[in-house]
This record gives sequence, structure tokens and C-alpha cells, in this order.
Amino acid sequence: MAQLVPVETFDLVIFGGTGDLAMRKLLPALYHRDRDDQITPDSRIIAASRGALSRDEYLALVEEALRRNLTDGEFDDATWQTFASRIHYAQADAFEHDHWAQLAELLNGVGARVRVAYLATAPSLFGPIAKGLKHNHLIDHSSRIVLEKPLGRDLESAREINEAIGECYAEHQIYRIDHYLGKETVQNLLALRFGNSLFEPLWRRSAIDNVQITVAEDLGVGGRVEFYDRVGALRDMVQNHLMQLVCLFAMEPPSSLDHNAVRDEKIKVLRSLKPISPADVGTSTVRGRYTSGAIGGETVAAYVDELGGAESSTETFVALKIEIENWRWSGVPFYVRTGKRLKAKHSEIVVQFQDVPHSIFPEQQFNVKPNMLRIRLQPDEGVQLTIMAKEPGPGGFDLRPVALDLSFAETFGVRYPDAYERLLMEVLRGNPALFMRRDEVEAAWQWVDGVIDSWATSKQKVESYVAGTWGPSAAASLLDRDGRTWVED
Ligand code: BG6
Repeated sequence: MAQLVPVETFDLVIFGGTGDLAMRKLLPALYHRDRDDQITPDSRIIAASRGALSRDEYLALVEEALRRNLTDGEFDDATWQTFASRIHYAQADAFEHDHWAQLAELLNGVGARVRVAYLATAPSLFGPIAKGLKHNHLIDHSSRIVLEKPLGRDLESAREINEAIGECYAEHQIYRIDHYLGKETVQNLLALRFGNSLFEPLWRRSAIDNVQITVAEDLGVGGRVEFYDRVGALRDMVQNHLMQLVCLFAMEPPSSLDHNAVRDEKIKVLRSLKPISPADVGTSTVRGRYTSGAIGGETVAAYVDELGGAESSTETFVALKIEIENWRWSGVPFYVRTGKRLKAKHSEIVVQFQDVPHSIFPEQQFNVKPNMLRIRLQPDEGVQLTIMAKEPGPGGFDLRPVALDLSFAETFGVRYPDAYERLLMEVLRGNPALFMRRDEVEAAWQWVDGVIDSWATSKQKVESYVAGTWGPSAAASLLDRDGRTWVED
């Protein structure tokens, strides 16, 4: 287990404290950190929400959520008693003067500590909450604010949110979450690239033929269908998570791990993305929506049925051919795809290297495949390098691809912490490296807005795919046209 770096005493106010994110992710993450003794005795978690709940009523909700969301054996009474003693509840409607006064009373007069406001609410409340905190003198130079996604639905709305927050907090106090940056294996991408000298000479157009990034989910949209129908896969997953993966994969080596050094390199990638024009839409993009099908032996409903049969133009799947216009990546396509109700929960980055320049093994007799590096993000995190090897045997000479396979779980033999455990601790430590800077978010929206506009101009249709498959057949054609296929086994 890596060394635990302690965090200072804090007051963490979670706005949206009764919501799904708080119950499913934030409180279980804090429970784990407390269980590992990373939280100081005087620290407080203050859940703020509109409901008039007593502290005991709120604690009952948290206990039930922890029992439901923690894995077997992780909930124990002693840890719960300690954890519960740190939790407080405050009724807080951003527009109610009295509620702010009560919150101020709770927060003031407890001595110096790091104060963090975590906004796990609808983005429309981000501005009003930040203003409420400012007007009630609840922000000082050491305060921080955490913003959950979605950060707007386009460049304009993202800018409005950023402006409103920027009137109350300085940029270095603002932590914009993309939880993919907290995932162990996403950080491992940095370790793989910059902790090894082996890959860097190969990490470029002269050695790499194409890169494929898949983030597939077997789950559907569930209880979020109304929200999701206003958003779709491009805004929900590509603008943030997939863009971050592309950036970390493709960026130039930063001069250090300093937060601005890393983010400066990521933004250069975003600014080098070739815009997708209406003329490119047919060859560079695919939109899909699931019909009913079967996943793991269970029949699942079509998206439109989950929506109650309403008309929809929303995509639950998207595949894109992304081109990065710079010296390192010119001519190397990045094929990315993500979707709901696909065959399995499976995320990976596949790097296909170039063919050997000249084969001494005649094509008719030998099937020499290009090398492949697979970085599995979830589940079964690990790295696999495929090389050609000679089949053992005294006669003849046959070649076969074999995999050098490293499973992180087997190698390290530890529990993989949830992304939120790390991200919350990074906020409390005051390290913004794993969060998005304003210009990054806006650059990602700018590119994504271009795709959305091109879809509208060219009236790009949404293809159907059967739930439990890898998406519409048009996604295969996207690569087929370039003489390539998705790596799927
Ligand atoms: C969220 C999206 O940001 O990421 C969800 O809003 C999606 O739609 C989720 O299900 C996927 O996260 P993970 O960690 O399960 O890959």
C-alpha cells in the first residue's frame, strides 16, 4: 500500500448532501479514508441540503447508504461510530437568508482549518451557492470549491458558470472534477509514459499506426433518463472523460508533475484537435441509440421505452475519428467510442504499432501481426504488450502473437481505491493537478460544440444498435474505411 499522506483538519461542506453522488460516492470514499486513519479527529463533514432533517435522520440515511454501497465486510460498527461523529447536517437553500446564517454559525468559531465547499448539485445552483458563501463571509484565502460535472452543456454555459464562480474564488481555489483523473489506471498512464524510457521513442507517428480508446458500459441510463436525454453520450462522456484520456495519452512530456506544467501540455493537445466539419461528419463520426436486447442473459429495454416512448434525438453511443494536428501525431487516427448498454463494462486504450518495415517472413507462410500495447482501465486493470514469437518445436518455423500480460491487481494485491477517495484527499491537500483548469474545460467544449453544430448542419442520423453488442455497425465501418478494425477480443 502506498504511503498515506495526512490531510489537515478540515470542514467539508457537501451541497447536495442527500443526493445520489453524496450517498453513492462521496460518503463511502470519506468512510474509507477515515477507516485508514487519514482524517484528523477534529475534521467535520457538513452535509447541506434543502430538506429539514435532523442530524440523526441524516445519519440514518448515510448508514443505510454505506451498508448498501460498501463491499461486503467493509462496514464495521467501530469505524461507523467514529465516522458518524464527524458528520453534521445543515438545511441549506441557496436562496434562504436564514439558512446561510445557520450555516455560518456552524462554520465560524471553530479555529483555523481548511474549508471546502463541494457542489454536488445541479449546475444552475453553482453560481447562487458561491455567491451565498461570499456574501456570508464564508470564503477566505485558504477556502476551496469543488465543482461536479456537468460543467455546462456548451462553451457558453460553461463560461457563465466559470465567470460566476470566478467572482467569488480565485482560479487556484477552484477544483473542477473529472473523476477519470482520479482513477488509478489513468494515473498509471503517466507512470507508463514518463516512468519508463522504453516507450517514449515509440510514442509518435513514426512507430504508431493508430490508437483506439473504448469506454463501454453495460448499464443503461436508469433513473437519469430525463437528464441524460438532454445531454447524450458526446456531452456526458466525450467532452470530459475521453478528452482527458486523449490528452494524457498524446501530450508532450511535462517538465514536472506541477499542476500547471501538466495542464499546459494537455491544453496544447486540445488546441491541436482538427475540427470536425459538416463534410467530415459522415466519415468521422457515428451516433447510436440502443434498442432492446440481452446483457448477461437478462433482457433489457430499449432507450426510447425507458424514456416512456417519447421522441428523442439523443445518442447513447458515439464513435469518433479524432485527428491531432501536430508533429508528433499528424496522420495517426485516434478512434474513440463510448456507449451505454454495450456488451460489457470495459475501458481500454489500444495502441497499434506499425507493421515491420520489411518482413523476412514471407506473407504466404507467416502471419506477422503488428505489435500492440493494451492499457486496460477497467475492469481487470493492467497492461498487455503483444509481440510475435516463434512457436516452440524442433521442426519448421512458425510465428504467433503472444501477450506479455501484467495484471495490476495480481501484482500489487491491494484494493483499488475509488477515484473519489483520491480526488477528495487532493482537494484537502490543496493539489489541483488532477482537476481541470478553466481553459481546459472551455477548449474541450469548443471542440465538442463544433461536432454538435456539424451534426445539426448535416442532420446526422442516430443509428440503432441492439443492447448487448458493441454498438451500431456504422462504428465498424468508421475503421473499415481506413482498412482497420476495432480490437475487441
Ligand atoms: C459519469 C457519466 O461521468 O461517468 C455517467 O455521467 C457514466 O453516465 C459514468 O456512467 C461512468 O463512470 P465509471 O467510473 O463507471 O466509468
